[in-house]
Amino acid sequence: MNKVLRKTGMVVAALVVLIILALVVIYTLSTIRMNKKYDLVASTINAPKDQASITEGRRLYISRGCVDCHGADLSGQTFINVPPIGKFTGTNLTSGKGGAASTMSDTDFAFAIRHGIAPDGSALIFMPATDFQGMSDEDVGKIIAYIRRVKPVNETSPAQHAGPITRLLFLAGKMPLLVSAELINHQAKSPAQVEVGETVEYGRYLAIGCTGCHGPGFSGGTIPGGPPDWPHAKNLTPAGDLGKWSQAEFIKTMRTGVRPDDSTLKPPMPWKNFSLMTDVELKAIWMFLKTIPAKETGNR
Ligand code: HEC
Ligand code: HEC
Repeated sequence: MNKVLRKTGMVVAALVVLIILALVVIYTLSTIRMNKKYDLVASTINAPKDQASITEGRRLYISRGCVDCHGADLSGQTFINVPPIGKFTGTNLTSGKGGAASTMSDTDFAFAIRHGIAPDGSALIFMPATDFQGMSDEDVGKIIAYIRRVKPVNETSPAQHAGPITRLLFLAGKMPLLVSAELINHQAKSPAQVEVGETVEYGRYLAIGCTGCHGPGFSGGTIPGGPPDWPHAKNLTPAGDLGKWSQAEFIKTMRTGVRPDDSTLKPPMPWKNFSLMTDVELKAIWMFLKTIPAKETGNR
């Protein structure tokens, strides 16, 4: 009996040691990548200050989804707080004490938004800059103009905490958004302003903002890094239900959150943000979606 107990004890002890070793390896390898510093090859940008730009900046801030993580008053909010996954908080962007606008220049802001890099060259954690890397100087400038004008909030945002599951997924290549700076070409010139209009080109420009959830090929499936209760993103290629919708049905769905069959869009599909998109923006996205190749759902 004693012998059996001793053996079981040894097996348990060995397992505990193995788990601790695995955690040490996971934390060490992921921390090295999360702490990597990047060179800033900044092209200077100067945000406008006129009222029209500020108003348009507010519309962009909401319709491009910044509001979901940085909050309606821009003071930041925690958007994921699940212990083994981690705790992630969009930071305070206002000019109040502890807020980004109290220290960051317009160029710093553009770098954070399009490259996912902080002014000291470190990577921003869980800031989806890949979605915004194609944003023109003009659009980024208007968002910055709005950030600088909102009511200052004095609040220091908590640091990001990536849990073991997130780190393991990150190392396995299943959670690229944890460090979006790794995926972006930091030598690229500022993206050109795409002319606003009902064109496939403008639709492609806007639809980059859908790829974080619907995948670079728009075929939907599991949203990388999302909590387990999130539904799969739908297939937006002609192979999905969208293939049977009309343009008017698409626009109505994006504005009301109700599909042609009367079912409602579940979160995290941010249709409330998108309802601020203009007719021209939604028509352009529709035109672009019609041109992408059909793909099986979940093929990203
Ligand atoms: C999925 C959530 C999410 C979305 C959407 C998002 N952000 Fe962030 N953002 C973050 C997180 C988290 C950080 C903090 C990263 C860190 O602390 O390493 C951050 C950091 C920043 C920073 C650097 C601020 C600082 O305090 O250092 C700026 C600027 C910023 N975001 C602007 C934006 C803008 C503008 C948009 C929309 C175009 C946007 N973000 C969309 C999550 C998000
Ligand atoms: C934060 C994640 C997220 C982003 C960003 C996002 N979506 Fe979605 N979307 C979803 C999810 C999740 C669903 C499925 C919702 C459900 O099951 O009810 C969905 C569903 C849809 C549907 C319904 C399709 C169908 O077949 O029922 C449309 C249309 C759609 N999204 C369009 C877009 C467009 C266009 C963009 C970019 C402008 C976008 N989405 C950006 C998460 C997202």
